Order: sequence, then structure tokens, then C-alpha cells
Amino acid sequence: MTANSRQKSNILLYLVATIVVGGATFLFLKFFGHANGAHFEGWWRIPWLILLSLLVYVSIRVVNALLFDFAFRLRRGYEAPTLVRNIFTLVVFAIVFLLIFNRVYSEVNLGALFTTSAIFGVIIGLALQDTLGNFFAGISLHADRPFQVGDVIVVGPQRHTGVVEGITWRAVKIRTFQNHIVLVSNSMAAKESIEVCPRENLNARIVFFGTLYSDSPAKTIHVVREAIREAENVSRKITPIVRIRDLGESSIDWEVKYWLQDYAKYNDTDALVRQLIWYALRRANITFAFPTRTLHVERRPPESKVSGPQKEIIERLSAVDIFAPLSVEETEKLATAASRHVFAPGELVIRAGDQGSSMFVVHNGRVQVQVSDGGKPRPVAVLSEGAFFGEMALFTGEPRTASVVAMEETEVLEIGHAAMKHLFETNPDLAEAISWTIAERRAGLQASSQQAAQVAEAESAGLLSSIKRFFGLG
Ligand code: CMP
Repeated sequence: MTANSRQKSNILLYLVATIVVGGATFLFLKFFGHANGAHFEGWWRIPWLILLSLLVYVSIRVVNALLFDFAFRLRRGYEAPTLVRNIFTLVVFAIVFLLIFNRVYSEVNLGALFTTSAIFGVIIGLALQDTLGNFFAGISLHADRPFQVGDVIVVGPQRHTGVVEGITWRAVKIRTFQNHIVLVSNSMAAKESIEVCPRENLNARIVFFGTLYSDSPAKTIHVVREAIREAENVSRKITPIVRIRDLGESSIDWEVKYWLQDYAKYNDTDALVRQLIWYALRRANITFAFPTRTLHVERRPPESKVSGPQKEIIERLSAVDIFAPLSVEETEKLATAASRHVFAPGELVIRAGDQGSSMFVVHNGRVQVQVSDGGKPRPVAVLSEGAFFGEMALFTGEPRTASVVAMEETEVLEIGHAAMKHLFETNPDLAEAISWTIAERRAGLQASSQQAAQVAEAESAGLLSSIKRFFGLG
């Protein structure tokens, strides 16, 4: 409906209302006037009353426009709600109409009219129960202002979702995402819980997907986050969150939480985000999971041949400085004895104070060695690929001296006590090399670096004998 035709229908409405009210008053006085002892003869004054009230109505509309279109918008910064404007018009009109009526029909006692018409009030009240309910619920909605025009709301038992277009006398009008108009009566809206996604608010959405267990979670998080953070309508103010929702039967189940600039377009943005995830995962060789059952048939590799992953481990171990003097066969044996473990970023590999009977070599990634300083972790060293740790507890039998935490997704090779004992028996130099490292690291754990060098030298001799004792070597 255009503004012009709305204006016309408004005038018509008030004209009809005035005629009805005037007519009703006339009939009322005609029948009940006798009861009050007065004869009513003033029917010819009704056109005059209508004309006057029409004039009043037009003037009130002008005042209304001045008040709400200019003053209200200037002070508050937004348009006054239609319902408030209409109430203003109606109340002022009713008061002025009664004043005029009193003037035109000065012989009619309005006070008596109202007291005798109590029964009519009850009848009208009952007839208008729903309408009045909606009307007052509308007023309370305006007073509370739980949502505004332009906000997305979810309302009613049927969970109608759409953008609020207006609140009228009767109903809240929302435009759904199928471009339908839904009218939820004010009394219903006031009773039901309403989910409001305000236009000025950073509203979030959650999108789900699943990947195979063989794909790295840290990589998936990075790939998906980078793929969607710059997408159209995704807010730059908060970085999207990619997290594991569940470890499902046949997939790692993920959720992506992102914030929208314009929530009213969330359907399109959800779709775009899903599309970007698809492309990003494909580029990164990460596979979406389907509900599947994976059957692993284990085939033992022939004894003599060294398989691909085993070769990788041998290469890694032979690049570790303390293992450099080992023969090829010894390194191969060590690789067979080593077990691989993957740690997520931030995950604890070793906890200070624990007992430990194995050492580790960093295969991929980086770890940080931390000691506790007044309850807070203080970094001591960062160890990357080819470095080893955990040797102190393994060789001295003492508790772990520090905690070791993965700084990124990190793969380590764990070597147990038995494998090392065997190596010591055939490589006497190995114990000495390790005792030097332990002494240096112990020194590194001390506060000052000057003290460190002295401590290293002094400790190394004592350590070697205690390592030999611990491993039962001559
Ligand atoms: P362990 O005591 O078994 O467990 C914690 C490990 O952190 C320790 O063995 C060392 O391998 C390592 N570590 C301790 N101090 C240092 C240091 N100063 N520099 C590098 N690594 C260290």
C-alpha cells in the first residue's frame, strides 16, 4: 500500500468512525434520553459535528506529522513506531471530539451518559476482547522494544523466521526468507518466547561438516578458518572458530562458528561458507567423511624389506647427533623399537615431576621445554625436528625435570629403556655423549647462564657414572 492510498483510507476510516460514533450517540440519546428526563431533538446538528471532527482530525494529523516526522526523529534518531503515532492520534481525537460534542450538544449530560452506559461498556469490552488484547500487547511490545524493524526474529509455535517489517495494532509483521509475509498477533508475540537477532548485533551462525579420521585436525582448522574469514558478509571483527564437535562413528564432526555483518542474509552466507569449505578441503587434500565402515586388513611387511614409513624413521634417527656413531643395523633396530605418536598444538608430551622410562625424538613439528616458575610455565628451550628430549629421566631414573609441550602439530618417536640399554652395551661412547647433553641441559635449567657452564663441566663426570650404574653397565 502506498503512502497516499494509506492516507486516503485513514481519512475514510475516521470518517466512518465518526459517523458510527455520532449515530450511536444519537440513537442512544433517543432511547435513553427520556430516562434521564431530557428530550433529544438535535439530530440536525450531527452533520455539523461530523464536519468539525473531520477538521479536528486533519489538524491532529498535521500535529502528528510535525511531532513524529521531525521532532521525534531528530531527538531519537529513528522513526516513531506507527502504533505509537496512531495511539496519539486516537487519544487526542477522542478528547477533542468529546469537547466538541459537549459544545454542540450542551444540553446533554455526558457524565450521566457514561455512568448509565456501563452495561454497554461490558458488551463492547467482551466483543472487543481479542482486538483489545492485541492492542495492549502491541503497546507493551512498543514499550519494551524487544526488537525493531529490520531485526531478524524467530517467533510463535511454528518458529516463523523473518525480518520484522512492522508492528501494527493487531500483529507483528515479518517477511520470511521465502519472501512471504507472516502476521503474528501481538498477544501471541507477547506470550511466546521470541528469539531476536538484532540488526546492530554481531550475530553468529554455525555450519557443520565432517572429515576422515586420517586427516589432521590442526591442518583442517587452519585451512577452513583461512578459507572463510574473508568471505562476503563474514564479519572481520571476530575470527571464525573451527572446532571439533564430536568424534563420530565414521568421521571427525566439525562445527564452524562465524559472525555475520548482515544477519538477514544468513542463508546465502551459510551456503557460501559451505562452498568455500569444499574448495579449501579439496585443495588441502582433506577428505569429507561419509557414513562408512573402514575395514583394515593388516598385511605384515616382509621382514627383509624396509617400508616407506620405516625408512623415514631410520633417516630421522640417523640424523640425530647422539645416534650418529651407530651402525646401519643398529639404527634400523632402533627404528623398529621406536613408536610414533602425534600431539595436537598445545598438548603436553611430558609432565614435569612424572616418572619416565623413555626418551623422544622430534620427527615433525616443534616442542617447547617449560619449567614452572612461581606456578607459571617459563620456556627454557624450543626443540625442532631431529632434536631429542626426555633423556634425563630415562638415563638417571629421576623424575622428569621439565614439561614438554607441542607448539604445533608434532610427531615424536618414542624410544624405550630396553632399546637404549642394548645400544649402550655395544656403544660405550653413546653414554658419554648423552651425559654431556644432560649436563648442559641441567645447566640450562639453572637461572644464570654463567653458572651454567661451570655446572655442566662439574656434573658431566658424575652423571656418566650414574648413567652406567642405572643401566647396569660395567
Ligand atoms: P626429562 O627430565 O626426562 O623430561 C623433561 C625434558 O626436557 C628433559 O628430560 C630434557 O630432555 C628436556 N630439557 C630439560 N632442560 C632442558 C634444556 N635446558 N634445554 C633443552 N631441553 C631440556
